[in-house]
Amino acid sequence: MNLIVAVDNNWAVGYKGGLLTYLPGDLPYFKEKTMGKIIIMGRKTLESLPGGRPLKDRTNIIMTRDKEFTCEGAKICYNKDEVLEYVKQYTCEDIFIIGGAEIYNLFMNECKKAYITKIYKEMPADKHINNMDKLDNWKVTWESEKQEHEGLVYQWTVYENVNM
Ligand SMILES: NC(=O)c1ccc[n+]([C@@H]2O[C@H](COP(=O)([O-])OP(=O)(O)OC[C@H]3O[C@@H](n4cnc5c(N)ncnc54)[C@H](OP(=O)(O)O)[C@@H]3O)[C@@H](O)[C@H]2O)c1
Repeated sequence: MNLIVAVDNNWAVGYKGGLLTYLPGDLPYFKEKTMGKIIIMGRKTLESLPGGRPLKDRTNIIMTRDKEFTCEGAKICYNKDEVLEYVKQYTCEDIFIIGGAEIYNLFMNECKKAYITKIYKEMPADKHINNMDKLDNWKVTWESEKQEHEGLVYQWTVYENVNM
């Protein structure tokens, strides 16, 4: 499976329930990677989406421990094993972990590729993921040209898990 995330210099991913910043160029990139695919997210990330609804034209899997939780148009899973069992029916390359911090860290070792948008700044943040530059099994295999939006420099990168 894959992971797709935008991080700042400190591998922060979120602040006050939302994203660190809005990068208009990153949205089409995220769409291109995930359209028609299987996406896995935590209940809090679902709630941060427009209308708190699943993303269109993708198979949405929501993780929660709340057995009462319902979400039209999404598959609900109550633990990691249940997710791994459910996604066996799909091709690994088609599965994307899309957040948030808890879910990224939970599945990081299960991922073969990580699509990391690097934002070259320290942003106000309260949610972080593991720093993949400090983990021996992750190597950078691709980097885009640097991009810029309103003075903020960012770059798309791909990390690969050499243990998989
Ligand atoms: N930078 C990015 O690319 C990016 C992408 C996505 C999200 N984000 C940001 O990340 C932040 C949200 O991350 P977060 O860590 O607070 O929340 P999260 O990972 O989206 O969701 C956490 C919730 O997932 C459920 N969960 C976690 N582990 C579970 C397990 N083992 N089994 C079953 N359910 C489990 C629990 O739901 P219940 O409480 O319902 O039990 C938990 O409260 C937001 O600020 C969001 O904007 C950033």
